[in-house]
Amino acid sequence: MYFVCSYSKKIYNNIKKPITFSDIGKPLEVRYNWEGVKKDIDVDESQKTLWRYRSVLPKVNNIISLGEGYTPLQQLAPDLYVKNETVNPTGSFKDRGMSLAVTLAKAQGVEEICLPSAGNAGISAAAYCKEAGIKCHVFLPETIPNEYKKATEKNSKNVYLSGKTISDAGKAMIKKKVNDWFDISTLKEPFRVEGKKTLGYEIAEQLGWRFPDVVVYETGGGTGLIGMWKAFVEIKSMGWVNDPLPRMVAAQSTGCAPVVKAFQERQRDTDFWENSDTVALGLNVPGPLGGAWILNIVRESKGIAIMIDEQRLKALTEEFNNLTSINSSDEGGVVWGAYSHLKKVGWIKPKERSVIFATGIERIK
Ligand SMILES: Cc1ncc(COP(=O)(O)O)c(C=O)c1O
Repeated sequence: MYFVCSYSKKIYNNIKKPITFSDIGKPLEVRYNWEGVKKDIDVDESQKTLWRYRSVLPKVNNIISLGEGYTPLQQLAPDLYVKNETVNPTGSFKDRGMSLAVTLAKAQGVEEICLPSAGNAGISAAAYCKEAGIKCHVFLPETIPNEYKKATEKNSKNVYLSGKTISDAGKAMIKKKVNDWFDISTLKEPFRVEGKKTLGYEIAEQLGWRFPDVVVYETGGGTGLIGMWKAFVEIKSMGWVNDPLPRMVAAQSTGCAPVVKAFQERQRDTDFWENSDTVALGLNVPGPLGGAWILNIVRESKGIAIMIDEQRLKALTEEFNNLTSINSSDEGGVVWGAYSHLKKVGWIKPKERSVIFATGIERIK
């Protein structure tokens, strides 16, 4: 295993532990020596969690798992599939990233973790840290619905509220942070992406080791989109699937759409989205650290970034939930609106297979 700066492409072989980001403050990407080497599919079928893909994840002896991943891929129409991530242990796809990040943090001797969260990541981090015996400090915006706060407090005594968005909560965290707290904010360490990449492995496996033509993803910090693209590239490099790589779509709300704006303006990186506000809480990420990385992937995959009118989100979520019988949060409305639009205007052609996501809710267990 080695690391590459996602921005400068500088390679890092020996890194101070615990592993964080590159020396220019950009996310590090995990790379493996087996990439590009043709080999047979190596899936541990006995595991009904994301750990069935252990052969393509960092090597560790002790894993921290609550049973995350290996979620249903529900067929909604002949050419449309919904990945139901609400059945994960804490009700969102964040569990994939947290299982990996907390496992690696534990293996690297971390005793205290901190992160800001728009809601789901905090709930997930608290649960995995409790399992690992790590102290978890979660910084949430004051606007967080009470049930999210309560679900976080179930597993962490260290929950702090400030400001309106995850960015405000992040600033409060920086002020309070003590040196040995390990920061697992989105893309500030490289292993949450490794957990999210299992989404891509699962989709390919569930389609019979084929790729979909299009992946439409509700994008906030972007780890899901980055992780899935990484998976598709890895799978292809090993010769497991020979289909063309999927076109990746970043879907956002008009209440917070820094990726869409930068895509439309052909910028290399995102600008901070002022006064962001959306009912899709996980997408209220006005300044994603991995903005340039997300944009690269959308462009390289011949994808697109589109925004859905915030005023339509509640109705779209209701429609999505009625069609799928999943109780998804409003990120589902964004992805449903984006898919429906792209299909209507012919960007997604008849018979092209698409995957969309119910990334979170149906909690609270
Ligand atoms: C339910 C939900 N969907 C989507 C997202 C966006 O995730 P990503 O960071 O992968 O873009 C989040 C992030 O908080 C979320 O909670």
